[in-house]
Amino acid sequence: MQKKKLMIHDFMKMKAEGQKMTWITAYDYPTAQFAEAAGMDMILVGDSLGMCVYGYEGTIPVTMDQCIVHCEAVRRGAPNTFVIGDMPFGSYHFSDEDAVRNAARFLKEAGVDAIKLEGGVRIISRIKAILDAGIVVIGHIGLTPQSSGQIGGHKAQGRTAESAKLVIDDALAIQESGGHMLLIEAVPPEVAGFITEKLKIPVLSIGAGAQCDGQLLIVSDLIGQFTAFTPKFVKKYADVAEVITNAMREYIKDVRTGAFTDDEHCYHTTKGEEANFQNPKQS
Ligand code: KIV
Repeated sequence: MQKKKLMIHDFMKMKAEGQKMTWITAYDYPTAQFAEAAGMDMILVGDSLGMCVYGYEGTIPVTMDQCIVHCEAVRRGAPNTFVIGDMPFGSYHFSDEDAVRNAARFLKEAGVDAIKLEGGVRIISRIKAILDAGIVVIGHIGLTPQSSGQIGGHKAQGRTAESAKLVIDDALAIQESGGHMLLIEAVPPEVAGFITEKLKIPVLSIGAGAQCDGQLLIVSDLIGQFTAFTPKFVKKYADVAEVITNAMREYIKDVRTGAFTDDEHCYHTTKGEEANFQNPKQS
């Protein structure tokens, strides 16, 4: 049976009914297919693809063109899932007009359902401009990797009352501007829980505790594919790095010993043809 695609009003209803939302990143066609088959509510084509797919040290080098290509692949793999494009560094930092143009590219070229961008109070004019273009907007606050230099690295935010107040101000500003949903990253559950109760829009967590309306994880962390480091908030559900490396080791061993390839994995000539090419008739 074809999965029913959930839209933003469904997520509002889920919040009202206390039903938790499930969200994962994906960057390619097969992973998007797996997410849809598993029954995921939403997929984020995160700029984390910079680290998880391209091997960059962070997300800063990621370009709009890279994001669009990966969104297209994910859209094809998960046609019945709510897909969110992540606006990369530099795609909304110069002007409202630039932000709208780039947000529109995600919809026109890749067919995503919404865009996500990092920041609260300081980017409200960008959020409003994108909303005015009729695009569904998801805010991302707390630990915002694109500005990690300013916030002291990849560190949890909102651990002191002063810092918590800033996160709360960002959350309120996003809701007031008309933002449809909010993602909070690496913030204590006490703060994220307070925000979740206060806000009418769905509040999703990545490392922000169980009281939020749903959870997001980076697929490469969840399946054990990204091995450089694992944040505290990650729960690893599989170890595909080990599975893949072991499969490749077995293959190397089989090739070296001659166990691969074998008769079972070969095409044979049609009966009677062998003699003809070994001893071709003279014309
Ligand atoms: O790019 C991404 O995957 C993200 C998550 C870290 C929230 O923005």
